Amino acid sequence: MAYMLEHKEEFNRLEKQSNSPGYDYRQELQDIVVQDGACILDAGCGTGIVSRYLAERFPSTRVVACDFTLSLLEQAREAAKDIPNLIFEEQDLTQLTFTSEQFDLIISRFVIHHQNTENRSKLIAELVRVLKPGGTLVIIDIDGATMNLYPQTPAVAEGLRKWAAYPEHDCFVGRKLPSLLLEAGLMSVSWRIETVAWSGTDNQEQWEMMRMILQNASAVHEKVLGGKEKQERFAIEYLECMKLPQSVYFFNKFIVSAIKPE
Ligand SMILES: C[S@@+](CC[C@H](N)C(=O)[O-])C[C@H]1O[C@@H](n2cnc3c(N)ncnc32)[C@H](O)[C@@H]1O
Repeated sequence: MAYMLEHKEEFNRLEKQSNSPGYDYRQELQDIVVQDGACILDAGCGTGIVSRYLAERFPSTRVVACDFTLSLLEQAREAAKDIPNLIFEEQDLTQLTFTSEQFDLIISRFVIHHQNTENRSKLIAELVRVLKPGGTLVIIDIDGATMNLYPQTPAVAEGLRKWAAYPEHDCFVGRKLPSLLLEAGLMSVSWRIETVAWSGTDNQEQWEMMRMILQNASAVHEKVLGGKEKQERFAIEYLECMKLPQSVYFFNKFIVSAIKPE
């Protein structure tokens, strides 16, 4: 399954997203601790924004950033060309080619909600396999993004119902992460939940982000919503709803970490 937001504008959107309020990766990762010489994996690196940050924050570590979207990897490599302790690899996270137990720390951010149930299990099993005993896995993902908008027109409500039922994507995966990591055999699972919220008078940046998401994912939306006309109507009305002065848009961000038993 390819990345549903693959588009020539996706590099710019992801970089913009991570630099906007509510998506501050520095704050999400403020508590992580790594030893000199550690090996870190950024699983599903996208533009490499988190990988660049980790490699620069911990210069005596080796950071491996991997993703299966070649257009993003190419731009990510270019953006990181002056960072010596960071390398990029094309990898499908559901079938990694890394040998087992080689990473001390693995971060995977905003990736799991793009998996269907089968691939989600494979992906988590692969991350656990390549993590060293005693190593830490940190997963950051959303719960309720796109869904939690009010008011909604009938076309928006219908589109969101279809979207919630689409099995290749899970807008509510955040709440499942602690259970999934325990079931995968990890211990000391801990998490924090941050609510990120905007109102219609204060959401220009998030409105622009949603406009780009609706544009970059339009081919998949067309399929899920039942045709181009429905996709276009959904996109227009969704953005109009966001602009209403009384509109509420929010989601919860889960930052979950766990340790692989020795
Ligand atoms: C929303 S982006 C997040 C990128 C980055 N982690 C960030 O925080 O900005 C999701 C990324 O996961 C990648 N991805 C999704 N499923 C994948 C898989 N099975 N194998 C490798 N990469 C995957 C996509 O290509 C995309 O770059």
